[in-house]
Amino acid sequence: MPAFLIKGGGASVPNLEGEIAVGSSKNASLPALASSLLFGDMPRFLNLPEIEDIKRMSELILSVDSEGNVDLDIAKRFRASILVVGPLLAKFGRASFPHPGGCLIGARPIDVFINGWEAIGGKLVKSGKTDGGNLIYTVEAPGGLTGCDYTFKVQSVTGTEGMMMTALLAKGDTVLRNCAMEPEIEYLADFLNKNGADIRGAGTTEITVAGRSGKLLRAVSPFLAPPDRIEAGTLLILGALAARSLEIKNINKCELASLFAALGEAGVETIETKNGVLVKKPKKINPVNIKTKEYPGFATDLQAPFSVLATQASGQSLIHETIFEGRLAYTEDLNRMGAKVTLMDPHRALITGHTPLYGRELTSPDLRAGLAYVIAALIAEGESKICNIYQIDRGYEKIDERLRAIGADIDRID
Ligand code: EPU
Repeated sequence: MPAFLIKGGGASVPNLEGEIAVGSSKNASLPALASSLLFGDMPRFLNLPEIEDIKRMSELILSVDSEGNVDLDIAKRFRASILVVGPLLAKFGRASFPHPGGCLIGARPIDVFINGWEAIGGKLVKSGKTDGGNLIYTVEAPGGLTGCDYTFKVQSVTGTEGMMMTALLAKGDTVLRNCAMEPEIEYLADFLNKNGADIRGAGTTEITVAGRSGKLLRAVSPFLAPPDRIEAGTLLILGALAARSLEIKNINKCELASLFAALGEAGVETIETKNGVLVKKPKKINPVNIKTKEYPGFATDLQAPFSVLATQASGQSLIHETIFEGRLAYTEDLNRMGAKVTLMDPHRALITGHTPLYGRELTSPDLRAGLAYVIAALIAEGESKICNIYQIDRGYEKIDERLRAIGADIDRID
């Protein structure tokens, strides 16, 4: 199985230098690709990241047959496959799909999707296990979809994107309330609006979608994938831990306000340049408490890399993960590397720094913690081996090559 071998530079002497450009956004590209099912012709997608999740989504869309069935084996491999269900229901009046797989970060229920589809005229006609043990659902809309007023029980990113797409072909307008406000939702709405949709309010908690009574969109304007804000944030953290000087290019700073605030509190200086942001390791890192929140709060996807930073702070940091309940399990591995992390409960970790880290053999539990391991290994003493790097390749394009170019000692082995 492929793995990364990393020789760490040790925490005291920063050894990375140069510039690195942020790759294209996974979580903006996935819903845009899913929305191609709402078009009468195929839109163009520019600048998509070359990562495993995008390959899976493309395969999934290509697997749709004339009745709207998808390849269930592909769908169950990744969580974002749920994004095609709304468009399929809207276009074919029916969708069968497996409970989506993905990261091991918590329960990941799909109730807000099912409730939404029922509110707009769909009906869950079947949910049960196949002989192979897969949980399969079938939703049908026998009378077609009718615009509705739907309030999300929790703010859900893909839930909001999914309902926005489902409502697009319905008869009549839909009002969605308590929507998530992540930038990826706005990117999707902008793309759809440029191609004939009328979606208002994306980026706020209330979104109105004008129903098109089954009329498909016509591809006029291509989708241009924006920079990945989570990768950008992770690279900033890496720079704060290990760079003599690192310029991060292709970064949308305004999408990372909560991280910049936390880095500022940690004593990390960032300087705006013409093309990006310059970051370097400060003499001393202050402890910082963070609490993950929906956007514009501190992103849960940046929690694991930030915890690595906290291991190098002088004092105690409290990391409070409020979105997912399984997203602190990786801290056990940080402890194996020499960190002092006490798990107070499934949502809160107390990190006491600073502690030297030592190279270990690690297995990526999910893509965000996987890259956090890479960062920890880069500042550790000795060699680390990181296994299950499919998880990292799901979200970060050629990360090993790009890190090598700024001085990291990282190799991919088969
Ligand atoms: N939730 C429910 N019921 C549902 C759906 C969600 O209770 O039906 C809960 C979740 O359990 C969680 C909260 O709602 O507690 C928010 O989850 P959300 O639905 O927003 O997550 P998601 O849409 O499945 C997206 C990203 C995740 C990111 C989260 C939170 C994509 C493809 N995925 O997931 O990204 O962590 O939002 O920001 O956009 C990643 O890229 O590594 C990743 C996991």
